[in-house]
Amino acid sequence: MRRWSAYLPVVIVLTVSPALRAGNWHTGGSLQCGQCHAEHATVGGQEIPGGPYSTLLVKAGVNDLCLSCHDGSDPTAPDVMAPVSMYAQSPLTESAAGHFASTGVVNPAGHSLGVAVAVPLNSTGKTATLTCASCHDYHGNANYRNLRHDPAGKGDSISLQASVDIFWQFTPLDPPTGAGSAAAYNQGNIRYKSGWSRWCGSCHDLIASNSPASPPAHFNAHPTDASLSGSGSTPHINTVHWVAGTGEGFLGSSPVTGEGIPRVPFLQASATDFVSAGQVLSSNQVFCGSCHKSHGSNYTKELRWPYIEGGANYLSGCQQCHYK
Ligand code: HEC
Ligand code: HEC
Ligand code: HEC
Ligand code: HEC
Ligand code: HEC
Ligand code: HEC
Repeated sequence: MRRWSAYLPVVIVLTVSPALRAGNWHTGGSLQCGQCHAEHATVGGQEIPGGPYSTLLVKAGVNDLCLSCHDGSDPTAPDVMAPVSMYAQSPLTESAAGHFASTGVVNPAGHSLGVAVAVPLNSTGKTATLTCASCHDYHGNANYRNLRHDPAGKGDSISLQASVDIFWQFTPLDPPTGAGSAAAYNQGNIRYKSGWSRWCGSCHDLIASNSPASPPAHFNAHPTDASLSGSGSTPHINTVHWVAGTGEGFLGSSPVTGEGIPRVPFLQASATDFVSAGQVLSSNQVFCGSCHKSHGSNYTKELRWPYIEGGANYLSGCQQCHYK
């Protein structure tokens, strides 16, 4: 931090308190100012074209800044921009959050970046222009993935923490490597216990305020954090089919030609570690991430299967839980 005060007096105010920094990267000791800010209008002796920018960022905007590494060009930085190849060797071939399309245009298959859009399922009817910083704290925090405590900016204080709400097997490496990041950030390394409907529901509050039990169905109420066995003897759920993990809906064993997707993510409410978080039980719960990816996917509404496009897989995810 040596010469910051000469250029950016606010730095003195911004002291990053290490005790609170439990995230894995861009936090505490791994928050390397020079990755994102310049000390002058130069980086590495080269003038920044068009710079220096606001708060001495090395790029003109937050999305440009983050994507300068996270677009696949830096092999150690998890790639969040389609096309993504870094998880090709992992069984599920994708990261937990999935991928964005371009910035500045509406993305029908995910969260649109850098373009003003109405926030769907939001009670205030507000419009937002999303950046990485809408959801991630750029200076790090104690949450999993540095996710913001108050993404909707309405005074929430949402905790979503590794080893509490989320479990993983492979910890990201410091310093980062390509293989280490592919192992740490792929979907198969992340298992879920709790907390998501509250976090996603801070912006999409019309879902959060609807109780799972209130009909009509998902499309108003999106039953979330509801356990499969909780449905008791209602005909909605087939827990035996879910636990077996074979047959219709499931990749590799569906009797229907060309049908089936990997088991959708679920919450395991009594998880205490990575292994127990993976237990397939009739008490598993459906959550936002069972059906949606967090950044975006290949399908409309960032769904995990082509429910809206149609085709052989259009009911695959639904069938895993609701086998008929
Ligand atoms: C100089 C390159 C670079 C820039 C710029 C950069 N990142 Fe990263 N980021 C990385 C690397 C490399 C990792 C993986 C580190 C590891 O896991 O070992 C990472 C990891 C992350 C993670 C996962 C952290 C965790 O605790 O699990 C998030 C979230 C993230 N970056 C968001 C951002 C955001 C938001 C921005 C812009 C404000 C940004 N990054 C800018 C290189 C960069
Ligand atoms: C991963 C990228 C990244 C890293 C690393 C980073 N910053 Fe920032 N910083 C940002 C972004 C993004 C903004 C907000 C810019 C904007 O909104 O115009 C910001 C804003 C700031 C501001 C303005 C006040 C505020 O909080 O918005 C200060 C001061 C600052 N950073 C200091 C630092 C210092 C000191 C370090 C090293 C300890 C550091 N930053 C590391 C991305 C980063
Ligand atoms: C709408 C909220 C939202 C926005 C906007 C967003 N993220 Fe994320 N991001 C998340 C969530 C939630 C996760 C964790 C998903 C999981 O683990 O299931 C995540 C995970 C990540 C990861 C870990 C790797 C992965 O793919 O799982 C990185 C890196 C990351 N985000 C970077 C970024 C960058 C860079 C941007 C801007 C280009 C961005 N995010 C914009 C919500 C968001
Ligand atoms: C910071 C506020 C914010 C948070 C947090 C947030 N979203 Fe969104 N979400 C938006 C906005 C704004 C849009 C509109 C984007 C668009 O039209 O592409 C959107 C759109 C969506 C869409 C429709 C996408 C499409 O292609 O039309 C889905 C599905 C969605 N969000 C799910 C989620 C899930 C799941 C989470 C939690 C992982 C989440 N959101 C967290 C703001 C947010
Ligand atoms: C069982 C699957 C399922 C679950 C669980 C689920 N969704 Fe959805 N969601 C869908 C489907 C299917 C659509 C698209 C059809 C529709 O809009 O009714 C959708 C649409 C959306 C949209 C876009 C609405 C619009 O008008 O564009 C948002 C936002 C959204 N979901 C957020 C969430 C959030 C946040 C959660 C968790 C609290 C969640 N969903 C849980 C299946 C699900
Ligand atoms: C991960 C498991 C899971 C997935 C995937 C899933 N559901 Fe559900 N669904 C549930 C649970 C749990 C309930 C609540 C228990 C009940 O109502 O019997 C439920 C309830 C329902 C209900 C009754 C809602 C109510 O309020 O009574 C309908 C209709 C439904 N799901 C349709 C779908 C459709 C359509 C899909 C695919 C787009 C889908 N589900 C995907 C687990 C799932």
